[in-house]
Amino acid sequence: MSDETLSNLLHEERRFEPPAELAAHANLQAEAYDRAAADPEAFWAEQARRLDWAEEWTQVLDWSNPPFAKWFVGGRLNAAHNCVDRHVEAGRGDKVALHFVGEPLDPETSGTRDITYAELKDLVCQAANALTDLGVQAGDRVAIYMPMIPEAVVAMLACARIGAPHTVVFGGFSSDALASRLTDCQAKVVVTADGGYRRGTASALKPAVDEARTKTGPEHTVEKVLVVRRTGQEVDWDDAVDVWWHDTVEQASTEHEAQAFDAEHPLYVMYTSGTTGKPKGILHTTGGYLTGAAYTHWAVFDLKPDDVYWCTADIGWVTGHSYIVYGPLANGVTQVLYEGTPDSPERGRWWQIIEEKQVSIFYTAPTAIRSFMKQGREIPDRHDMSSLRILGSVGEPINPEAYVWYRHVVGGDRTPVVDTWWQTETGAIMISPLPGVTAGKPGSAMTAIPGISAEVVDDQGRPVPDGSGGLLVVTAPWPSMLRTIWGDDERYVDTYWSRFPATDERGAYYFAGDGAKKDSDGDLWVLGRVDDVMNVSGHRLSTTEIESALVSHPKVAEAAVVGAKDEDTGQAVCAFVILREEAGDGGADIVEELRNHVRKEIGPIAKPRQVMIVPELPKTRSGKIMRRLLRDVAEDREVGDVTTLADSSVMDLISSGLSKGA
Ligand code: WTA
Repeated sequence: MSDETLSNLLHEERRFEPPAELAAHANLQAEAYDRAAADPEAFWAEQARRLDWAEEWTQVLDWSNPPFAKWFVGGRLNAAHNCVDRHVEAGRGDKVALHFVGEPLDPETSGTRDITYAELKDLVCQAANALTDLGVQAGDRVAIYMPMIPEAVVAMLACARIGAPHTVVFGGFSSDALASRLTDCQAKVVVTADGGYRRGTASALKPAVDEARTKTGPEHTVEKVLVVRRTGQEVDWDDAVDVWWHDTVEQASTEHEAQAFDAEHPLYVMYTSGTTGKPKGILHTTGGYLTGAAYTHWAVFDLKPDDVYWCTADIGWVTGHSYIVYGPLANGVTQVLYEGTPDSPERGRWWQIIEEKQVSIFYTAPTAIRSFMKQGREIPDRHDMSSLRILGSVGEPINPEAYVWYRHVVGGDRTPVVDTWWQTETGAIMISPLPGVTAGKPGSAMTAIPGISAEVVDDQGRPVPDGSGGLLVVTAPWPSMLRTIWGDDERYVDTYWSRFPATDERGAYYFAGDGAKKDSDGDLWVLGRVDDVMNVSGHRLSTTEIESALVSHPKVAEAAVVGAKDEDTGQAVCAFVILREEAGDGGADIVEELRNHVRKEIGPIAKPRQVMIVPELPKTRSGKIMRRLLRDVAEDREVGDVTTLADSSVMDLISSGLSKGA
């Protein structure tokens, strides 16, 4: 990366100190960094003691066969007991675990209700008994393909309780995606629902399971499908396979003795896309994962007993696993579980829920924040959100302007924003400000949290000096790290550990696949996947950096940048921009105006070759911009595979908009 680019990036001078009150009572204080660094294993042992162990470990970490880690060796525990039973046993059974907000506003069909820890315990025990009756034993895999309803959480915890690793498949995935996951992990049972609600209408789920079962090939392993009746819509029924939740789970006993499992017993497999077509089944195990989820949720959100927490992720993603199910419930929090979308039945739906449930900690994604920015502040301004005290962001780099808007408009300038960097593979938050310690910089994830060691290195694995960029690595094992790729140890080693193998001086580094830079204070700025980093005339430029520059222009709502092949410069910067509603069509000179704005913000090298004004951007169902498709447009090729887009018509909109505009 050129010196000029970097010095321009570092013009971000805004700092947000933690509120005094929060700092004074923060769960973690600044001393934790040094304490953890001095003796990481002692620090992690201390964190593991947040949990109830049936048997304590004899060794904190066994790293004798890297990169295959064993944490809390010899320890035994039950994850569901830790998330539910122990809170009830401690006399907190009446505390609300889930404020479930169903999507339909009609109370008859919404199912909106509060579920206490005592009630959750009964539900989990019933489901554990029912799954056992269906033949599920410890070690068997159970797939979960469900809407965001309490039964999804119950099903996950019931699996954990009986030691059957779950694999949750996002309800928006197709039957093909479901089939490939069922086959890869050889699932014995699928838990699903007849359907779920989306924007006010019932949308079917069960047919995709029926279809997936026909596609799982000769090693067909699904024996039973357990179906929650959510919408009441018609479903095909196979008596040999299908069973209703209300005929089984709801009839089962609420008594169930939770057995303790080895700390390294598999807890779940979460599929995530890699650079190749075949999704990777990321394996997480019990003791280390739960320690990481519980510790980070407590530390990064400065969790207090009276907090009302809301994470807007879907349980089909890792964020839903670590920060809806395992972290928050292990910590005994009261949280909102919301079935619907942010803008249905109206655009202020989220803010209305925050006001109504008095949410104090809110965790969402930059893509959502930017779309709210686009709509303007009048909508959030209609709601009293003074209950909020901490805001979190996850999933992609947050542009400084989006960060400031989030803090200012949603958080009333009181709330620290924690920009949390982590991955499906890391299991838990790795790099983040601590809300009571860190003076936040908009756009920076700041530093590795206590207990984690991250570094930015060059191609040879040497730490880069402050003020330069490189590759983000984790330099020491951590409890919630993935243990392998399901059924493919070799791919695990190749993908994550072969880029920076052990040398005489140091062990192997975990390579995250992200680029990052260290600013002059040594704070980290995650720039995005390295495959999204462009090389323009030998200068490394981040798509994110240029996107942030564009979004800082008052007329811009959202921007996506790709590097398109260019004869002169190797790659050239191409930007796709959505304008804010109040900006209208932006005026005749909008394209030049934006190109020059980037030039001014970052430097001449970053000035886009092209700026295309578009009505929408292509996004995956998890909200990530599919730059590959934009690159096709920028390079004037036929647009590639659009099947993983949340809305496959978006590419048509873009293409037709561009041909009109051209
Ligand atoms: C990106 C989601 C910048 C990053 C928890 C990572 C981020 C990938 C951030 C993992 C952040 C996530 N700042 N980039 N705060 N959080 N990412 O597995 O590229 O769905 O490698 O896990 O998202 O995505 P995943």
